[in-house]
Amino acid sequence: MKLIDGKKVSQEIKNELKEKIAKAKEVTGKIPGLVTIIVGENPASQIYVKMKNKSCAEIGMYSEKRELSESISEDELLNIIDEYNNDEKINGILVQLPLPKHIDENKVIEKISPLKDVDGFHPVSVGNLVIGKETFLSCTPYGIWELLKRYKIETKGKHVVVVGRSNIVGKPIANIMLQKAEGANSVVTICHSAAPDLSYFTKQADILIAAIGRANFITKEMVKDNVVVIDVGINRIDDPNSEKGYKIVGDVDFDEVAEKSSYITPVPGGVGPMTIAMLLQNTFTSFARKNNLSN
Ligand code: GUN
Repeated sequence: MKLIDGKKVSQEIKNELKEKIAKAKEVTGKIPGLVTIIVGENPASQIYVKMKNKSCAEIGMYSEKRELSESISEDELLNIIDEYNNDEKINGILVQLPLPKHIDENKVIEKISPLKDVDGFHPVSVGNLVIGKETFLSCTPYGIWELLKRYKIETKGKHVVVVGRSNIVGKPIANIMLQKAEGANSVVTICHSAAPDLSYFTKQADILIAAIGRANFITKEMVKDNVVVIDVGINRIDDPNSEKGYKIVGDVDFDEVAEKSSYITPVPGGVGPMTIAMLLQNTFTSFARKNNLSN
C-alpha cells in the first residue's frame, strides 16, 4: 500500500506558484488577486476562508476577505460581486458556501464572471468541462486529478467508481475522469445513496472516489484487492482519547481498506490540502490568461 500525500503535493504546487508569481511580477509589475466573500458566522466556513487567505499570503498572491452580515439582502450581495467583476486587482472571486437560506445560491454563482470563476461552479464552467473545453475546474476534483497525475497512477481504461453526486465533487470528478486526457480517459460510473446495493458498484472499482459525507462508510468488504482509493470525506466523530474530544475521519474505513489498496489518500492530509492549492492555481491561471502569460 502506498500513501498519497496530499499535504506534500499541495506544498509542491504552492512552491511552484510562488516562483511563477515572482516571475510574473518582474514581467508585468502585477500580482494575481483573490477575493473571498463570506456571509454570516458559520464557524467551519470561517476556518476555511482564513486558510485560503493565509495560503495566498504564503505564495505572494494578493487577497481580500470580505465579511458580510448574515442579514445582507440578495441584491446587495449581487452588487458586491459585480464590484469585484470589475475590479482590476481581482482575478478570482470565491463566495464561500453555504449561504443563508434567504439567498439563492445559483443566482450568486451565476453573477460571478466566468473569467473569475475560480471555484468552477458557474454553469459556463461546468458546461465547458462537460464538452471538453478548457475551463476552471472545481477545486477538489481538480486536486484529485492532479494527485492521480503526479503519482503516475494508470487511469486510461480503468474503471473509476464515484460514490456521491454533488455539484462540488461527484459530478465534476466524474466528468474530469471521462475526458480523453492525461490522467483520465477512464470508464466512469457514478453511484449514490439511491442504489439498492452500493457495494455491487464499489467492488468493481479500479479507482474508487468516495464523496459521500458519512464517516467510515466504505469498508473492506466493499472493495477489491489493489484498488486505488481517493477519500474526499471530512467527518467529525467523537474521540474520548483526543484532547478536543473528537477526530476527523474520511468516508473510508482507512485501517481496514488500506490493507487491500494499492494507493490510498489519508484523512486528514490527502485530498483536503489539495483543494486550496488548486484554488490558488485557478487564480493564477485567470491572471495568466488576462496578462497573456504562460500558465
Ligand atoms: N464550501 C465547501 N466547499 C467549498 C468550495 O470548494 N468552495 C466554496 N466557495 N464553498 C465551499
